[in-house]
Amino acid sequence: MSEDSGKAILEFSSEEMRAFGYRVIDQLIDYYQTRRDKPVVEALDSAMLDAILHEPPPRAPMPWREVLAQFEAQVVNASNRVDHPRFFGYIPLANNFAGVMADTLAAGYNIFNAVWLQGPGAAQIERLTVDWLRQLFGFPAAAGGTFVSGGSVANLTALAVARQLRLAGDMRAAVAYCSDQSHFAIARGLRLLGFAPGQLRVLPSDGRYRLPPAGLRAALREDRAAGLRPFCVIATAGSTNCGAVDPLHALADICAEEALWLHIDGAYGAPAMLTERGRQALSGLERADSLALDAHKWLFQPIECGVVLLRQRRWLSQTFKAAPEYLKDMEQAGEERNFMYQGIQLTRQFRALKLWMSFKIFGLDAIREAIDAGFDAAQRAEALLRQAGCWQIITPAQLAMVTFRYRPAAGDDALADRVTQGLVGALMADGFAFASGTRLGGKPVLRLVCNNPRATAEDLRQTIDLLGRLARALEADIR
Ligand SMILES: Cc1ncc(COP(=O)(O)O)c(C=O)c1O
Repeated sequence: MSEDSGKAILEFSSEEMRAFGYRVIDQLIDYYQTRRDKPVVEALDSAMLDAILHEPPPRAPMPWREVLAQFEAQVVNASNRVDHPRFFGYIPLANNFAGVMADTLAAGYNIFNAVWLQGPGAAQIERLTVDWLRQLFGFPAAAGGTFVSGGSVANLTALAVARQLRLAGDMRAAVAYCSDQSHFAIARGLRLLGFAPGQLRVLPSDGRYRLPPAGLRAALREDRAAGLRPFCVIATAGSTNCGAVDPLHALADICAEEALWLHIDGAYGAPAMLTERGRQALSGLERADSLALDAHKWLFQPIECGVVLLRQRRWLSQTFKAAPEYLKDMEQAGEERNFMYQGIQLTRQFRALKLWMSFKIFGLDAIREAIDAGFDAAQRAEALLRQAGCWQIITPAQLAMVTFRYRPAAGDDALADRVTQGLVGALMADGFAFASGTRLGGKPVLRLVCNNPRATAEDLRQTIDLLGRLARALEADIR
């Protein structure tokens, strides 16, 4: 008997690995083939969910087939399907199988994508993929960036760079500006970076939910007169509420005149730059000092796939460089090739692989078409809502989103509020399709976000018909 016999090394035999792996793939393929016929929202069995929480740490092994079956029954079937073609709520997350396989490979090979010398191939792929995005978004050759978990961390990373480069350690009296339509990740990011709430000035948006340049100029004048130090403007390119795009050129002009950092949150909208309509809507995006985007939203990657782009690649390492003794030998390739110095993670996943593989396997033309489909779908949704006659369009189709509220025949606004607000719950109870709500102009509205290219005209028609039926039923209940 060898000295090592009987040691638990947490391995499977080749046969078991094949069986396990093939079973997982079969399970996923079954899911993709049947997803359309499944409910978008699952009716939750709270007793079953409570049972999950009360399991002690398992001492004894359990066959993987049983664990997989438990996962399917208790986790998959208790999760709403954010990639379902009739999921139009929040921001739909329509991933793709090439991205899924890439994530599997990245996990399987356990590629350590932090230190160039440990995995130069991966680092080069990340640099290349970031560079594709740089070109597609019209950033200069010196620009660069890094993959992060998602939009929240991309915004946080960019704001950390802005703080480092513009404030050089002295945050006193510094002020950043955004509109009341900015994502909450902005205020939270600044808070985490040590800014007091009063150091973010949230300006009222205009009638189209955009940051008004005149309002910004007035606030800057006022704040400078009061001895404050404006340093950063945060614009949104595709607001979460309604897809609004701030006037990017006008804001970039102000930032240039006033020597302010321009950060653009394009977590949702930036990928639209790959299409002609998107380039028109987002013109000026290329003037940002920093840009946050999410490839797990409108670039069809599995969750988590965020990217932050900086106008100067070296700004990241100027912010995040550290000098640990035990990694000195690894620094030979320079700071910009060592992703451990480009953000807050040391050990990090190889997230770029999924976007690189998806771009290569589908080709840019197909990706552009899939993004473009979102513009058409939102226009179709708007037309269907107008035809139905019982909806008021609040913001017309823009960047694959349309917002609307119920319009009862009697024109009763309080009733419209109650029905509109009740619809999200009614949709969840029904399960066939999903749209989410928000408030615009102080009023409850519904949003249909149409960036899943697999949503068909029939999916939209059925969803809008269902909304109409549920609204009439709610109205009858309330009366
Ligand atoms: C405009 C915008 N910014 C930031 C975020 C946050 O991104 P994530 O959820 O990937 O952290 C979102 C998410 O919906 C968003 O729409």
